[in-house]
Amino acid sequence: MSDGGGRAQAERAAVAAVEAFYQAWSEGDLETLRGTMNYPHVSLFPGHIEVRATPEDFESPFERLRELQAWHSSSLDRIHPIWTRDDKVCLSVDWSRYGEDGTRYLSGNIIYIVTNVEGHWGIQFRARSEPRDRDGPPPEAAAAGQRPNLLTLVPEEIEEFARRHTTPLPPHLEELARFTLEEMEYGLMLSGPIEGGLLQFLAWATGAKRVLELGCFTGFSAQMLAAELPDDGEVITCEIDRETAEIARRYADEGPDGQKIEIRVGPALETLETLEGPFDLVFIDADKNPYIDYYEASLELLADKGIIAVDNVLLNGRVTNPESRSGQRMAAFNAHVAADPRVKQVLLPVRDGVMLIRRA
Ligand SMILES: C[S@@+](CC[C@H](N)C(=O)[O-])C[C@H]1O[C@@H](n2cnc3c(N)ncnc32)[C@H](O)[C@@H]1O
Repeated sequence: MSDGGGRAQAERAAVAAVEAFYQAWSEGDLETLRGTMNYPHVSLFPGHIEVRATPEDFESPFERLRELQAWHSSSLDRIHPIWTRDDKVCLSVDWSRYGEDGTRYLSGNIIYIVTNVEGHWGIQFRARSEPRDRDGPPPEAAAAGQRPNLLTLVPEEIEEFARRHTTPLPPHLEELARFTLEEMEYGLMLSGPIEGGLLQFLAWATGAKRVLELGCFTGFSAQMLAAELPDDGEVITCEIDRETAEIARRYADEGPDGQKIEIRVGPALETLETLEGPFDLVFIDADKNPYIDYYEASLELLADKGIIAVDNVLLNGRVTNPESRSGQRMAAFNAHVAADPRVKQVLLPVRDGVMLIRRA
């Protein structure tokens, strides 16, 4: 892109691609959203840019984003080019979030590299900075006690009733849940007190000493599990995102069971290869694509009387929707386990669906 006119044209096309991306995002228009991505393997997962996802994987984080958007809206404030080279434009995008009353309460910046591939301009790469200021009070919904609801398939009042009749969280985990839901961009990934309570029961009932978790996030479930282990017990938890792992580490160290928690940063499948069993309890709660691989590797490491708990096996009800590719992929995972003569399993419609698996 040597001449000034060509540069301006490229920048306009890149800006249009980013605007189309945001527009499609806010309207829930998946097809256009995918069309704004040049490389279908770019994942929208927070904090890292991935080369492992396919366009269909877009569906799952996208649906989480939509849930978040019901809670607060985001807008583009300013887009400006940082550099333009050949068929690539690097754009800086300032964004804000607004509460229902129109108050801007959070803003940040995202860098996009938009590329022209065979005449089509699309997002190839994005990097996110931390939100950098708060210009107003948080929206009403973010005020204490009015968090976005956790992912659940049961009616809200039943979930609330179940929660009220579940042993309450200790203050440090109450605070971690609050932080995760209110401050983390994808806070709804939190398992929460009911599923966390279930995990604690499993740890207690199996007399677990060694626990493996795939998908640490802010470490809520790891801390719930660690609380049930003896002093010399351990939770090894895998997290791909370094920044998230650091947050989990900080909170774990502030809690009473931090010394029992080891966080392994990196892709869970790679970490699994380095581990030796047996584990008394395995909790699978990382990215959903490799679930069958996670299951197979976990079964290898499972103690004779151990249990594997797998989260999100109902995928927000999408497992019964033949048009949802992510739902069908999760349905295939369920079918894989159901057809495996080595195990027995029960699928509990708790939260987003938890499957418990043991050796037959
Ligand atoms: C649903 S969250 C885990 C929630 C957590 N177990 C809890 O209850 O609060 C999934 C986590 O898995 C991490 N993750 C995604 N892909 C991964 C991978 N391939 N290996 C390890 N962790 C991964 C994500 O960054 C995210 O923090």
